[in-house]
Amino acid sequence: MKALKLLSIVMVFSLMVILSACGTSKTNGSETNSGNTSEKKTLKVVSNAEYAPFEYLDKGKIKGFDIDLMEAIAKEAGYKIKIVHVGWDPLFVEIKGKTADLGISAITINEERQQTYDFSIPYFISTNEILVPKGSNIKDAMDLKDKVVGVQNGTTGQEVVEAILGKNSSNLKKFESTNLAIMEMKGGGADAVVADNTVVEEYVKNNPKENVVLIKDEVNFEKELYGLMYPKGSKLKEEFDKAIKKVIENGTYTKIYNEWFKVNPDLNLLTEK
Ligand code: ARG
Repeated sequence: MKALKLLSIVMVFSLMVILSACGTSKTNGSETNSGNTSEKKTLKVVSNAEYAPFEYLDKGKIKGFDIDLMEAIAKEAGYKIKIVHVGWDPLFVEIKGKTADLGISAITINEERQQTYDFSIPYFISTNEILVPKGSNIKDAMDLKDKVVGVQNGTTGQEVVEAILGKNSSNLKKFESTNLAIMEMKGGGADAVVADNTVVEEYVKNNPKENVVLIKDEVNFEKELYGLMYPKGSKLKEEFDKAIKKVIENGTYTKIYNEWFKVNPDLNLLTEK
């Protein structure tokens, strides 16, 4: 009888231990979810900072529209972030391998990438544009057909040029960055460079003496939308989407946009898509 009593005391006691353990883990769980900023880990954000005015290095410091916007979004979501320049191809490797939490780098949301990654709601509208030396006989995208064209490897610029030149065309020159493609053109090694409109426009603006001009082609080059890119299934998407909506609504987005582009964004265009 005594032994039985002892056994039941032990059993009740172990049950209490088990229950309290469950209780603890539950509390911890909800604390991390709703906890304040100081408890959240610093997120690693990867970028290819060779794409002014979106992201570029200025005396070793990472700057640009994307950078300011990313800071504002993270602040709104209650996260500390560290943005690091890793390069374009490594950016995809890091996010896929989850050694980075997310990426911002003027990354176009497209179906192919959506198979492997998750994207935020769009934050910028873009399209490809052609940069050529002054006096070039290239007048639209179709004129690129028999030309040597430089692009940044693995970008939508490469894709749209491949659609005209053919996938394995030897006339397509791929570079690690758009800047290298532009240097190739300046050296006479390419007839044109195709990259995002805002980036080539910035280049022309900053290099007025270089005798380069822009060719727009809204028929052959479609509108593209930029998004933050996450590993598939990332829980950050939901929180950050809310934060993006908030910074658009509260005027922070417009303020940052204005600082970088000196005009107001068309918010209707951005939110209707
Ligand atoms: N928007 C284009 C794409 O997603 C080019 C982006 C390149 N970005 C960069 N930071 N180099 O393919």
